[in-house]
Formats: sequence, structure tokens, C-alpha cells
Amino acid sequence: MRVSNNLVGILNLVTLLLSIPIIGGGIWLSKQANTECERFLDKPVIVLGVFVLLVSIAGLVGSCCRVTWLLWVYLLVMFLLILLLFCFTIFAFVVTNKGAGQALSDKGYKEYRLGDYSNWLQNRVNDNWGKIRSCLEDSKICQKLLTDNSTPAADFYKEHLSSLQSGCCKPSNDCNFQYISPTNWTKGATAALGNPDCEIWSNDANKLCYACDSCKAGCWIT
Ligand SMILES: *[C@@H]1O[C@H](CO)[C@@H](O)[C@H](O)[C@H]1NC(C)=O
Repeated sequence: MRVSNNLVGILNLVTLLLSIPIIGGGIWLSKQANTECERFLDKPVIVLGVFVLLVSIAGLVGSCCRVTWLLWVYLLVMFLLILLLFCFTIFAFVVTNKGAGQALSDKGYKEYRLGDYSNWLQNRVNDNWGKIRSCLEDSKICQKLLTDNSTPAADFYKEHLSSLQSGCCKPSNDCNFQYISPTNWTKGATAALGNPDCEIWSNDANKLCYACDSCKAGCWIT
């Protein structure tokens, strides 16, 4: 019992120390939040930090001062957390099940469609798209493609793109646009039918395909 008590104490000291930069980071975010993404994230980060802090204190005090009820509270919270994580994993698996991405015969990357997901998930994504989109723009996922503007088409088609890069930074394959650079495409005379993403695509670095359904779909695979 003593060894495990010491172990619990040390682990909680570590998480206690970790919670301080988390809270600090959350406060810093809330102080200098310029984008919608930063304003969206600051509160959850602070809540997470305070939660870790409180749980660590419970575990630390419980183990080193032998406060049994505090240790039980700590164990219960840990159990619920693991249960929650387990349920969330299953949930994430179920809702994104069909959206595994479509392999294209002559391309190194896959493409993603929002229609492959459940209606429930599609609605949730659409409701929060403004915030998620702001976070995507902040994360500069398309930066590499924006700067690779001398890549020949044949090389670009062989690249392995992440789901976000494929969905958000380039137009869908079935739009049949003509390639100039990864983020610069010429719309053909024959408008692509059936895929609204083709209308949404823009060569403007601030727009690209961030509003596309393919981007919303790519968001759920990482
Ligand atoms: C895309 O390429 C065309 C042709 O090379 C060029 O005129 C245009 O400025 C480019 N657009 C952007 C956004 O880079």
C-alpha cells in the first residue's frame, strides 16, 4: 500500500505541475484572443486545467496524508474519466464509421464527403462550422500547399495529403479543374454537376475550400 501511495503521490504531483501551464495557457488565450478560434478554446482549456488541478490535489492530499475518502473521490473521478473516454472513442468510431475517405485510382490522396456521415453529425458540424473553420485557418494546414506553388501536377497528384489538406486546401477531384499549383486551379468551361463544393472553391488563400463539405468531412478523420 505504501509503494502505491507514493506512486499515486508522484503521479499527482506531475499532473498538478502540468495543470499550471494549462491554466496559464487558457488565461493567456483569453487575454489575447483575436480570432474566433482562440475565443472558442480559452474557456474549455481553463476548465480542463482547473479540473486537472483539483483532481491532482485530491490524489496528492489523499495519498500523502492518508485521507481515505479523498482517495475514493479521486478513484471515482478517474474511473468516470476512463469510462467517458471509452464511450467517446466508441461514439467517435460509430459516427464517423462510413466516412473513411474515398481512394482515387490515380491519386496519392483520398477525398472526403460529408454525405458519408450520419445526419446527426452533419448537423453538429454545420452548426459549429464558423468556429471550427477559424481554428483550421489559424492552424495553417494549407500553408505547405500554398507555398508549394511550383510543384508539377504529376508530382502533386502523387502526394499523400492529410484528410484536412485534401478536403480544405484543394478542390474536389470530380470538379475536373485544371491544375496550376496546389491552391490555384482554373475552373473549366463545363461546370461540374452535382458537387456544390466546385462552386465554393476559390483560389483566394483565405477562402480555398474552407467552406466545402469535403473540408467539414476531412475534419473528422485525422
Ligand atoms: C493563379 O495562376 C494564374 C496563372 O499562372 C495567375 O495569373 C494567378 O495570379 C494565380 N492566382 C493566384 C491566387 O495565385
